[in-house]
Amino acid sequence: MYYKVITYGCQMNVHESEKLAGMLEDMGYTPCPEGVDPDVVVFNTCCIRDTAERRALGNIGVLKGLKKQKPDLIIAVVGCMPQQAGTAETIKQKYPYVDIILGTRNIYLLKGEIERVLSARERANAKRYRSSDVTLPENYLDIDASTPTLRSSYPNAWINIIYGCNNFCTYCIVPYVRGREISRDMKSVLDEVRACVDMGYKEITLLGQNVNSYGNDLSSDVSFSKLLREIDKIEGKFRVRFMTSHPKDLTDEVIEAMAISSKICNNLHLPIQSGSDKVLKDMNRRYDREKYFSLIQKLLAAMPDIGITTDIMVGFPTESEQDFEDTLDVVRRVRFSNAFTFIYSPRRGTPAASMPQIPYAVKQARIDRLIKEQNAITKQLSDLYTGGVYEILAEDVAPKYQNKICGRTDSGRLVTFDGDEKDVGKFFDVKITASRSASLFGERVN
Ligand code: SAH
Ligand code: SF4
Ligand code: F3S
Repeated sequence: MYYKVITYGCQMNVHESEKLAGMLEDMGYTPCPEGVDPDVVVFNTCCIRDTAERRALGNIGVLKGLKKQKPDLIIAVVGCMPQQAGTAETIKQKYPYVDIILGTRNIYLLKGEIERVLSARERANAKRYRSSDVTLPENYLDIDASTPTLRSSYPNAWINIIYGCNNFCTYCIVPYVRGREISRDMKSVLDEVRACVDMGYKEITLLGQNVNSYGNDLSSDVSFSKLLREIDKIEGKFRVRFMTSHPKDLTDEVIEAMAISSKICNNLHLPIQSGSDKVLKDMNRRYDREKYFSLIQKLLAAMPDIGITTDIMVGFPTESEQDFEDTLDVVRRVRFSNAFTFIYSPRRGTPAASMPQIPYAVKQARIDRLIKEQNAITKQLSDLYTGGVYEILAEDVAPKYQNKICGRTDSGRLVTFDGDEKDVGKFFDVKITASRSASLFGERVN
């Protein structure tokens, strides 16, 4: 019996798909080989932007034909998309061949739901079983901790430290679909890090919608900086990264913990979203340009070689041409190592969705200008690496080249160099010989 898990969205979803796969393998399913029809397909969905939703719905639609040919196929739609108010009902109506619908905090029910679908089918006259549990259970942390995980991103191990979001940025759907913040107990996080290091993982990526809020709902002596310092004490050679940091909550203690640690990478993803104080206010981001600049200055003073990446959104309803110019100005001044750029997409039920919207063509023109500006900076910063020698953790075989592997510098720049599958998970000193936009090429020196 074969399964397929199809993942959309952020790293949180990538990691949760490892749990979905863990549950399926526990039930005896194996990964579906190329060219064979699966017995179970799970769509782990995202609804951050319209494009993410349309992609998932399109692919669910494609399965209609397969389901006709193979009525035993089980289709599950889980995660953020059906967690939105009313969406589970819409999926039921428009895609009646979907068997199971589960929200973000009850994906662990997958095993039981598959068993119920199977037993309902065995009883010939029974109605087809359909579930659409999109509730957010209180005892989520205990359930989650006992869900089997099939890690599939060696040498990196994803570890969730905080679930949910309390921030309610006015454009964002996440607080509605992921619920309020719940931090995992520090001991259980540390145990998981230790277990991963013992199993041979060489990079730990801590996940949360806002990792800087870690511990706010726990006792007063628990904080994200404390967690980082405790992880740093764990023996072994491994790297630590984390995402995402909200600028309003990035403390001096976190910057210091990063700077003094040899394990925590000098790499930070710090989404700015906009360079205009007016837009930031309308977005409910609760920081302004000056605050953001002062964080950048502190980070550079503590770690001169740090790689800082960001998220930027264009076309928020109240963004004027001048506001957009302010964003370009920030991009030129900060010189981000890399930026993920998005066109604002109205999300049903969020405050910004009911404001007057900017025409799509204006948004498109703005993002084109932004990308052009950032690409030039990314390239200039890449060029600065050439000639230098950097420690690289080989993370994967390079997808586009033969006999090459790729990995990242401590600061997060991708480097491609000679090697093969057996080198993945090892550290190499690599001399950078060439650069192309965001990627670097090099030669091993040891
Ligand atoms: N928790 C993270 C972001 C998660 S979503 C944080 O606060 O930084 C990842 C990115 O998607 C956001 O940083 C934002 O740039 C973008 N995004 C969120 N909602 C969006 C929307 N409605 N339209 C377009 N982009 C959006
Ligand atoms: Fe969304 Fe803002 Fe929460 Fe990030 S901090 S998940 S952008 S509401
Ligand atoms: Fe998408 Fe949900 Fe992540 S909406 S970005 S998968 S938290």
